Amino acid sequence: MPVFPQLPDNAPFTAAQKSWLNSWIASVMAALPEANITAEQAAPGLPLISQLRSQTGLADGLADAPAPSPTGSMDNPCFARLIENRLLTTATAAKETRHFAMHIGGLQYEVGDALGIMPTNCGALVDAVLKCGGWSADDGLRDELTQRFDLTYPSLDFIEAAAQRGDRSDLVELVKTERSAELNAWMWGRDVLDVLALCPAGSFTAAEFTAALKCLKPRLYSIASSLKAAPDEVHLTIAQVRYESHGRARSGVCSTFLADRAGIDTQISVFVQPSPDFRLPTDSATPVIMVGPGTGVAPFRAFLQERQAVGGKGRNWLFFGEQSRTESYFYKDEWKNLIRAGTLHRMDTAFSRDQEQKVYVQHRMTENGEELYRWLEAGAHFYVCGDASRMAKDVDAALHQVIRTHSHKSADQAAAYVAEMKQAKRYACDVY
Ligand SMILES: Cc1cc2nc3c(=O)[nH]c(=O)nc-3n(C[C@H](O)[C@H](O)[C@H](O)COP(=O)(O)OP(=O)(O)OC[C@H]3O[C@@H](n4cnc5c(N)ncnc54)[C@H](O)[C@@H]3O)c2cc1C
Ligand SMILES: NC(=O)c1ccc[n+]([C@@H]2O[C@H](COP(=O)([O-])OP(=O)(O)OC[C@H]3O[C@@H](n4cnc5c(N)ncnc54)[C@H](OP(=O)(O)O)[C@@H]3O)[C@@H](O)[C@H]2O)c1
Repeated sequence: MPVFPQLPDNAPFTAAQKSWLNSWIASVMAALPEANITAEQAAPGLPLISQLRSQTGLADGLADAPAPSPTGSMDNPCFARLIENRLLTTATAAKETRHFAMHIGGLQYEVGDALGIMPTNCGALVDAVLKCGGWSADDGLRDELTQRFDLTYPSLDFIEAAAQRGDRSDLVELVKTERSAELNAWMWGRDVLDVLALCPAGSFTAAEFTAALKCLKPRLYSIASSLKAAPDEVHLTIAQVRYESHGRARSGVCSTFLADRAGIDTQISVFVQPSPDFRLPTDSATPVIMVGPGTGVAPFRAFLQERQAVGGKGRNWLFFGEQSRTESYFYKDEWKNLIRAGTLHRMDTAFSRDQEQKVYVQHRMTENGEELYRWLEAGAHFYVCGDASRMAKDVDAALHQVIRTHSHKSADQAAAYVAEMKQAKRYACDVY
């Protein structure tokens, strides 16, 4: 029985894809004139797929492949090719936010959807982990740590095991007694490498270590484009996570994977995460109010592209906020063009750090409360995207206040008005 080469375990495919590809490789190899080759003979110089096809006429067999999903999924991602990586902030800005574009072939999405991206870990971090654990990079361990395992968030099992082997009874106690607030406080700004460093090199075998790690998960990003304006492309607006903690510079896995490690033309594993509750009104004549500070502006760029492409008659009002007009006014020229084209009817900005007192998007809502209430009374849909921890709550409170002030309703009546908007799907949030 001939032995055919197989895809390595860490190849970036799902089990179903691997199994199909392995059987396809086997059928191609079996049909070659020199079919009875061994794996050792075959592996060093595998023929090109094009040669295999012409030698075997097996291309028709490809028709048996499972049809690719037009959206992909977490278990069955598609490939997208990175074609643009551009700074939206200036080089001197306090934060770094970038615009990315990918070529997506036949992948389908709707405005409002998010894109899931499967990142890989930073090579320098992987090397530091290997060194700290006392392991060599042989046997594919480096690849596994780069592609398969989460080096950001350590599992509780791993913290407990490392604390035990490192004689940190205080930490063992925190895990065992489930004192999650104290444990979270200890964990803030620490990652897998910090936990591994609790014990001497050689405390874990490589197999024990990887068994205690979580799997690397994809990150989601609000899609910032419309297929109608950018066919075959998806655009994203991403804030790069970079900070220093416990004496070491750290970086968010996915935001810096795209910014630093995935060069132009890199094929990236992606899937579309549908957001059926975050959609433009079906009637393009309905007005919309969009509140999107920071990266929260992403889906509204997509909404406006879509409305322009379909020639929607509805009025559009955008609230955008960032730290500085000169350093972080994302997509400034695009908004100008949309205003000139009559697609964006109102835009209010809040640059929080351009004056002594912070000014946020909700302040602009309040200042323009009378008109905002008129838009709501005219049936406008209200959207919020961006920071969940503070911004979305403050914007919600401002919306209630605007309604109270300009309709002379009580707090309860304003709450009922907002509840009705939600019920009628006229109030949608995409917050993270
Ligand atoms: C539906 C949805 C849509 C989203 N859309 C967008 C979008 O359009 N644009 C966008 O930029 N993001 C968006 N996000 C957030 C995005 O998914 C990621 O969470 C983000 O990019 C960080 O991922 P990362 O892999 O770079 O960082 P990770 O490797 O996940 O690291 C982030 C972690 O680092 C730690 N950390 C961060 N800062 C500090 C600090 N100063 N001190 C100590 N520890 C710190 C925290 O534990 C934090 O959870 C969205 C999220 C969701 C759920
Ligand atoms: N999970 C993650 O790891 C991760 C990664 C990236 C981003 N995020 C989070 O995602 C969110 C979006 O980040 P971002 O970089 O796009 O922008 P952001 O941090 O939300 O900042 C955008 C603008 O909103 C302002 N702002 C701050 N607090 C506000 C509030 N309560 N109400 C209204 N506006 C407020 C900011 O002002 P000031 O800064 O001057 O206060 C800034 O001008 C943030 O919460 C960020 O922490 C999380």
